[in-house]
Amino acid sequence: MLNFELYNPTKLVFGKGQIEKLGTLIPAGAKILLAYGGGSIFKNGIHQQAIDNLKGFEIVEFGGIEANPHFETLMKAVEIIKEQNIDFILAVGGGSVIDGVKFISAAVHFDGNPIDILQKHILIKENVVPFGTILTLPATGSEMNSGSVVTIASTQEKLAFGGSALFPQFSICDPTVIQSLPKRQLQNGVVDAYTHVMEQYLTYPHEGYLQDRIAEGILQTLIEVGPKVVETPEDYALASNFMWSCTMALNGLIQKGVPNDWATHMIGHELTALYGIDHARTLAIIGPNLYRVMFETKKEKLAQYGKRIFNLSGTEDEIATQAIEKTVAFFHTMGMKTLLSENAENFEKTADFIVDRFEKRGWKALGEKQNITLEKVKDIVLMSY
Ligand code: NZQ
Ligand code: ZN
Repeated sequence: MLNFELYNPTKLVFGKGQIEKLGTLIPAGAKILLAYGGGSIFKNGIHQQAIDNLKGFEIVEFGGIEANPHFETLMKAVEIIKEQNIDFILAVGGGSVIDGVKFISAAVHFDGNPIDILQKHILIKENVVPFGTILTLPATGSEMNSGSVVTIASTQEKLAFGGSALFPQFSICDPTVIQSLPKRQLQNGVVDAYTHVMEQYLTYPHEGYLQDRIAEGILQTLIEVGPKVVETPEDYALASNFMWSCTMALNGLIQKGVPNDWATHMIGHELTALYGIDHARTLAIIGPNLYRVMFETKKEKLAQYGKRIFNLSGTEDEIATQAIEKTVAFFHTMGMKTLLSENAENFEKTADFIVDRFEKRGWKALGEKQNITLEKVKDIVLMSY
């Protein structure tokens, strides 16, 4: 097993009715920026629940953080925080609102132009505005990790950043919040979390036996509850297992001591930046083709995955091949359309565009073995058309 350090200071408050604890989790006397998205929290009553449990706090509201949050929008919140001396941010929303709040938190005291946080991948280790979250959409794991993805609308760039100072102080995860989610978002959540596990698991055989078993447990749970939770999100057993699986998929635990890939995400982010395709749907398009193109590198792990998750038998190559097809079939069950042509128009130049961008950014060797070269990226994207 590789050496590792595990640090995760987020206090996770999980379960039905836990939003009631909100007032006890925020420092007394704090002036709060309550940040949210396009307004779903008004329709499902979560905004009211938050307000009811923040009696005695001074609150300034900031709404309109869009899905795949924009740098331009977030900078408006940065100004409000500076003008109004706000000292705590509460994110109420899905990954986009939480990621947006991470950027706001980092940008307020940033010494320099905050766009550099994104374009120069600056690690944020200190000087942030503290924040907590109420999660409304299980998917990204952002409620318990220190990463974020923000889009610069003016340049159509979707860029990841993070750092040890960007863990939420607390996250309230009440599984009943998923009842108001559109089917499409529930499907997205399952596939995003599934792919997070795959990025950290589907590499090559290693000595992290426990990490593999935990990863496989999350995959099996998502396969078991995913199709059902989309139909009956009011079923608490399904909702709670779905939500906890999504958090566990990307709270840092399963990636410790093992190789990681993340190339599906890096390519997928470009598809969202270019065509606005939902994040999870980009992963369903790219992931299986990445496994196909990188078959020789990944086949041992694909075979382990095929045996343990889908009970497949045969030669290593046969199991590995079938395991990819089973993954695609699961994504189809979850309502994904796995071709770029089914998700976007005028996409013919995508492969060249992405390769060119990666080249300019110096991203010439991706994946757990740094062997996903620009040629491989091109093959993966072309295969996805
Ligand atoms: O904006 P509102 O009106 O709130 O509506 C949202 C939005 O339209 C809606 N929604 C959220 N909770 C709801 C609800 N509707 C009804 N009832 C509820 N309870 O759902 C829509 C999508 O929300 P969004 O936050 O965009 O979805 P998600 O949680 O999937 O987040 C996606 C973003 O997270 C990034 C993605 O790239 C993308 O920008 N990611 C962040 C990661 C991280 N920080 O670790 C890792 C991921 O791989 C991912 O890249
Ligand atoms: Zn993701």
